[in-house]
Amino acid sequence: MEEIVNKYQTSINLLNDAVRREIASSMQYIYFHIRMEDAGYEYISRYMHKVAIEEMRHVEMLAERILFLGGDVDLNPIEPTRQLHEVEAMFDFAIKLEKSTICHYNAASKSCAAADDSVTQRIFQDLAAEEESHLDNFRNEMQNMVDYGQLYLTMQSVGRSKSLAKK
Ligand SMILES: [Fe+2]
Ligand SMILES: [Fe+2]
Repeated sequence: MEEIVNKYQTSINLLNDAVRREIASSMQYIYFHIRMEDAGYEYISRYMHKVAIEEMRHVEMLAERILFLGGDVDLNPIEPTRQLHEVEAMFDFAIKLEKSTICHYNAASKSCAAADDSVTQRIFQDLAAEEESHLDNFRNEMQNMVDYGQLYLTMQSVGRSKSLAKK
């Protein structure tokens, strides 16, 4: 009997690889958020939370496309969460994650074009643009850390005191 092959299998595989990347990033940023919040770093902890939720939205977007193409969704993270404790190490790793994701999405969009799947191609292009904005913001935060060091972290703690006083 002839095996039925889904003609969108290339796209489905690329989409699942992306889902697993997004899950890993989302978990990693939630971990950073929790550590930053515990240390009292108000604004950067909130930003980490925001990006974690954005990555989870990316998971949903990719998963919807996988189901539409007749595939199934693999929600297992592509790599385990790293337990980093220093803010500089967190931003450094977040920058690496975003760069590698952008690189994968650019390659995936080309592969989808080659497989005549322009809609998935566009999804990867749109996601790459959003990851570039994460990268840009993480780079700025890293630069602040390099420029101001402990003073920058102290300002984050003052931010928390301010918001507590408002409550
Ligand atoms: Fe993402
Ligand atoms: Fe991202």
